[in-house]
This record gives sequence, C-alpha cells and structure tokens, in this order.
Amino acid sequence: MKSTPKTRRAALLAAPFLLLGNACRDLQPIEAPTAVEAMAAPDRAKVELGQRLFFDRQLSADGSTACATCHVPVEGGDDDRAVSLGVGGQAGKRNSPTVLNAGFKAHLFWDGRATTLEEQALMPLRAKDEMGADDAAVLAYLGRDASYPGEFQAAFGDAAISMERLASAVATYQRQLVTPSRVDAFLLGDEGALNAQEQRGLSFFRGNCTFCHDGPGVGGQRLEKLGFATEWPAERTHDLGLEERTQDEGDRLVFAVPQLRNVARTAPYFHDGSVATLEEAIQLMGRHQLGEELTEDQIADLVAMLEALSADPEPRLLQDPNGSR
Ligand code: HEC
Ligand code: HEC
Repeated sequence: MKSTPKTRRAALLAAPFLLLGNACRDLQPIEAPTAVEAMAAPDRAKVELGQRLFFDRQLSADGSTACATCHVPVEGGDDDRAVSLGVGGQAGKRNSPTVLNAGFKAHLFWDGRATTLEEQALMPLRAKDEMGADDAAVLAYLGRDASYPGEFQAAFGDAAISMERLASAVATYQRQLVTPSRVDAFLLGDEGALNAQEQRGLSFFRGNCTFCHDGPGVGGQRLEKLGFATEWPAERTHDLGLEERTQDEGDRLVFAVPQLRNVARTAPYFHDGSVATLEEAIQLMGRHQLGEELTEDQIADLVAMLEALSADPEPRLLQDPNGSR
C-alpha cells in the first residue's frame, strides 16, 4: 500500500505504539564526510562552486539576498528571526530551517513540498518574496562573470551554464554540510563523550522522541501532526501545514518533523518561529506530542543532550568565497 501520511498515521495508531514504534526508530550516528581537500578535483570544484553560489547576493533580483542571508552557515545554518526577510525586506510566513545536514532530510520545507536538494534549490531563488530572481538574468550574470564559466567547466567538464547545474552545485555544497557531534561519538562507542546529564537526556530522548525525530538527522524522515497526542491550540498558528498543499483537512497541522542537530543554535522555534527558548519548545513537545507534562529535570536533561548535538562542518565551508573577489 502506498504510504501516505494518513495511511501511515492510521497504521501507527493501530500498531502497539511503544513496542513496535520505538523499536524500529532510533538515532543513526553520522561521521564526517570526505574532506573537501581530499576529494577528486571535479567533486571539489562542484562543492566550491556551490558554496560561491550559496553566498552570492547578486543572484537575487536586487542584489540584496543570498541563500546565506537566511541560512547563515556559521550561525547554525538559519537566521535568528521568527520569519525570514527576502528581497525588498519582505517577510515570509515561516521560520528558516537550518541547512546543516539538510542532505539527510527525506522531506524538505515545513510542509515537505520538496524531496531533494536539487529540486529545492531553485524554489527560493525564484520565489518573489525570497530572492525574486529571473532565470534569464541569473544566466546572463553568471555567463558574463570573469570566473564563473571556468568554475562550471571545472565542476561539470564543460563551461555550459544552466539552472540545473546551478541547482546541482548548490545541492552538492549543502550535502557537504555534515556535523558529527559528541552524541555521535557516544553512540559510536566513546563512552566519555557525554556527561551523566547528557546521557540521561539521550536515553529519555531515545525512549520518547525518536518516534518522530529519528534517523541520521535526528528528524527529517517523516511528516507528523503537531498536536499528535493533545491538540495544538488553534489560536497559536494560522498555518495549516500540509493541508495548504493537499487541501485535505486530515492533513491540518501536519509538518515535516524538523531535524534537531544544532537545534540549540537555531532559536526561535517551530514553523512560525513563535517559541523563543528550547526549554519551552521541549515542554510543548511533551504536552502536545507525548501527552505528558515533563518535569524540570527531564527538560534540563533534554536541553543538555540537544546542546551536545551542536557541531560545525569543515571550517572552509563556512566562509563567503565572494568576499575576496
Ligand atoms: C528570504 C530567506 C530565504 C532565502 C533567501 C533562502 N531560503 Fe531557504 N528557506 C527559507 C525558509 C523560510 C524556509 C522554510 C520555508 C517553508 O517551509 O515553507 C527555507 C527552506 C529551505 C530548505 C529546506 C530545509 C528543511 O529543513 O526543510 C533548504 C534546503 C533551503 N531553504 C535552502 C536554500 C537555498 C539553497 C537557497 C538559495 C538558493 C535558499 N534556501 C534561500 C528562507 C530562505
Ligand atoms: C509525534 C511526533 C513527535 C514527537 C513524539 C516529538 N516531536 Fe518534536 N516535533 C515534531 C513536529 C511535527 C515538529 C514541528 C512542529 C512545528 O514546527 O510546527 C517538532 C518540533 C520540535 C522542536 C522544534 C525544532 C525547530 O527547529 O523549530 C523541538 C526542539 C522538538 N520537536 C523536540 C522534541 C523532543 C525533545 C521530543 C521528545 C520529548 C519531541 N520533540 C517529540 C514531532 C514530534
């Protein structure tokens, strides 16, 4: 049977929730990818081209906005706003998720409307309230630049410049933004990597939260209802989540489960950026996703564990390569 969010949710409710659900859903530790310096030349050229494009404000309609404006790699991969500002200072309606580890996500965007980074990349570039770019203008700008044609050649074997190649390079750069943390070291056998409190947080997390926040990204694998156990108060949000895309009431408040790597650095929280602290976000998860009031100690343990999930990718990937040009 095709697994739609609805059939999947129905199956989950019918299944013995704790036994089956949690047994097969867990965290998956990650390791650092091949360092850029050690890559084959064309692969390295593709990452470097993608990095330059990611930071290039000239791709936007008015030269004001790059991918990196709303996804600041050095600050956890998001911006610090509730909702992002695009060209002309226009406010969007959703909080910008981190691009760190985005390559692990099966569902991109809060409503899962893209599934690959290649498919995703051109959407914000063309969106009127984000970068507002026009394909013809982008291609003309890249073609007349002193070094972009040579960089496309190095990455793709010939100097042809296309929107598909741009998307492919940007996706390749983002796939390199992988951040193994102390939690991964612990899961891979280094028992000293986490202190006692972080370990308590981790076991609580594995027993309760990996039902939804699972896999290598600690989330990003599924679409789930906000208010799974106890209804999310209607006055808290004007966003219908997946329902806005499917027009199906059963999809109301269904969102792509966010990845929690680096979450300690990506406040404010939730699709609308309406929650300022990690403590409150966790308290609300307990109440609405687990149907449980978590104690202060449980919340503190979870915060400690989530903080231990913060880490940076290779330093060279954080810099804006356009600065020196
Ligand atoms: C004006 C701010 C802004 C700009 C510019 C921007 N983004 Fe985003 N990005 C967002 C917001 C907000 C979302 C979530 C939107 C939604 O879910 O509807 C998002 C979502 C994403 C996601 C999905 C992440 C996830 O966890 O689901 C990726 C990947 C991404 N952007 C990459 C890019 C790339 C690549 C560019 C440049 C081509 C870019 N963004 C430009 C604000 C921005
Ligand atoms: C039934 C599924 C489910 C369970 C269980 C669950 N979550 Fe979530 N979590 C979600 C969804 C869906 C969202 C996105 C909600 C939104 O933004 O509207 C989310 C969002 C979050 C966020 C905010 C992330 C961000 O970037 O804004 C944090 C933090 C979080 N969860 C932590 C936890 C913790 C800790 C637990 C266990 C105590 C937990 N969650 C249990 C589904 C779940």
